[in-house]
Amino acid sequence: ASTLGAQAATSGRYFGTAVAAGRLGDSTYSTILDREFNMITPENEMKWDTTEPSRGSFNFGPADQIVNHAQAHGQRMRGHTLVWYQQLPGWVSSIGDANTLRSVMDNHITTEMTHFKGKIYAWDVVNEAFADGSSQHRSSVFQNVLGNGFIEEAFRTARAADPSAKLCYNDYNIENWSDAKTQGVFAMVKDFKARGVPIDCVGFQSHFGSGGPPASFQTTLQNFAALGVDVQLTELDIAQAPATAYSNTVKDCVNVSRCAGITVWGIRDSDSWRSGDNPLLFDGNGNKKAAYDAVLSALGGG
Ligand code: G3I
Repeated sequence: ASTLGAQAATSGRYFGTAVAAGRLGDSTYSTILDREFNMITPENEMKWDTTEPSRGSFNFGPADQIVNHAQAHGQRMRGHTLVWYQQLPGWVSSIGDANTLRSVMDNHITTEMTHFKGKIYAWDVVNEAFADGSSQHRSSVFQNVLGNGFIEEAFRTARAADPSAKLCYNDYNIENWSDAKTQGVFAMVKDFKARGVPIDCVGFQSHFGSGGPPASFQTTLQNFAALGVDVQLTELDIAQAPATAYSNTVKDCVNVSRCAGITVWGIRDSDSWRSGDNPLLFDGNGNKKAAYDAVLSALGGG
């Protein structure tokens, strides 16, 4: 096939991108989106500061715009993200009472997942809960007030809200197998599977420097998959977008049968959160870069 999404589909995978609702009206942007990508992650529109800016007052307008676009164009959705210490409104971070915070967290998960029920392929239920350089959770209001069990609580609540959505744990710097952070997340997933805590997938954000993925990335993906979860590359971008680094990354996924798909974190370099690094597959004018051809060919197409 001659597009990323269609080529990924030949092996049962998807190829997605992060989308900003405010850019859907840009025809260069939406033309590439609808030609190349069959999975969409809202870049910011499903985060807590947008969806529940004050307690019990929900705003799904910007996310609905993206979901409606996806439905009209046959694209599936990844939901991002329900429980994260960033883009968290001040009213949540200042809660000090455990019963209050637990009910606020559970209500946020249930209300947001119920609103989008049946329309989301996979949810990033918890994002970036582990500390860098460590196997422990990072400090956050959820960790500090609810303790280690907040992640399990979030996943159990999520399963009850939409039993048909895949439930993912998503993080960065967990691509290198020997890193303490990777080992910490691996131990959590192993424990969840052993105790029947509902988890279906692990998202590897894959924000790489110009060298691309660590040499052990495929091993990491394989080891997680062996625990009985899907693995997904959820926010891929690579500084300067070297063709070889992109090709190596795609092959690491394609070589693992439970690697369900790849999402790049934006369309054109000018759309990127790290636009100074020119890390994406299309330049600012929407032209395909060398990395695009490398990705298409690593997926087996071209
Ligand atoms: O919407 C406001 C706008 O009203 C205001 O005028 C403007 C002024 O700065 O800010 C706008 O909000 C910005 C928002 O993006 C939308 O553009 C925020 O400041 C900015 O912080 C926010 O950045 C996002 C970042 O997450 C926040 O942590 C990036 O777009 C988004 O790409 C990035 O994505 C994260 C993933 O969710 C999780 N993994 C890491 C990844 C990269 O940081």
